[in-house]
Amino acid sequence: MDIINKIGEMQARSEARRLAGEKIAFVPTMGFLHQGHMSLLKEGRNRGDDLILSIFVNPTQFAQGEDLDAYPKSIERDLGLAEKEGVDAVFLPDAAQMYGENYQTYVSLEKLPNYLCGISRPTHFRGVATVVTKLFNIVKPHVAIFGEKDFQQLAVIRQMVCDLNMDIDIIGGAIVREKDGLAMSSRNAYLSQVQRQSALCLFYSLQHARKLVKNGVNETEVIIQSTREIIESQPETCIDYLMMCDPVSLESKPMIQGPTLFALAVKVGNTRLIDNMILEP
Ligand code: PAJ
Repeated sequence: MDIINKIGEMQARSEARRLAGEKIAFVPTMGFLHQGHMSLLKEGRNRGDDLILSIFVNPTQFAQGEDLDAYPKSIERDLGLAEKEGVDAVFLPDAAQMYGENYQTYVSLEKLPNYLCGISRPTHFRGVATVVTKLFNIVKPHVAIFGEKDFQQLAVIRQMVCDLNMDIDIIGGAIVREKDGLAMSSRNAYLSQVQRQSALCLFYSLQHARKLVKNGVNETEVIIQSTREIIESQPETCIDYLMMCDPVSLESKPMIQGPTLFALAVKVGNTRLIDNMILEP
């Protein structure tokens, strides 16, 4: 497995693979790998001749006061997991190289970032779209895999790739959960024992909503109110948002008619967790 720190070296490697006729599959991450990341690597292994993983905690997607400096790291462990999963190359740049002193170019979308997580994190998706564009230009993949856990991020990337005519297939990977239902996340490492138990309220809310819809409830406000109670009954929780929206435009919907995205963000202690599910009437 190649471990590459330099942007130019990564570009030269990918160029050579392309010239050799290989298909490059790419999984971008911020490291501290878990089974959710592994499932994307498995998907990539099936889709490409050359599988590339990037690990980069991207400063431009964190706002002041967020957890950039505290973000969990485990590079040696991550490299071991990557090797086991059959990764061909790991790209590990540093921030000084990715964002030089005179850095001034950003990619931002007009509409999709104005919903869900973008409301409390107004600069987040600009940082994500920018770094993913940069990584695409460095890794030169034919196909890239992103998790549906970050549903809005996946929507932003798909839209950006379409709008900017990037010749890359974007594949979504299903949410991987712990046995008890908590969606896997590098940030779960921040939770105390009590908070870990409270955090289950996200998954319970999704299940509760699905049951209500199955029983014929289709007013989104009724479902939201009822799940709000589940979350608020748990210690140390604070709701950021509970939203039912169109899975493509992310605009909120008053009624569940077609497939509807139920997305939520909840702070448990200081840790902000997200989850989502598509509800079908
Ligand atoms: P990170 O949070 O490390 O996630 C990397 C990828 O793993 C993302 O596509 C994310 O959606 C996916 N993922 C995380 N948890 C998952 C789970 N439980 N099941 C399935 N997939 C899961 O997302 C980022 O990093 C960054 O924003 C990045 C795209 C790398 C840009 O900096």
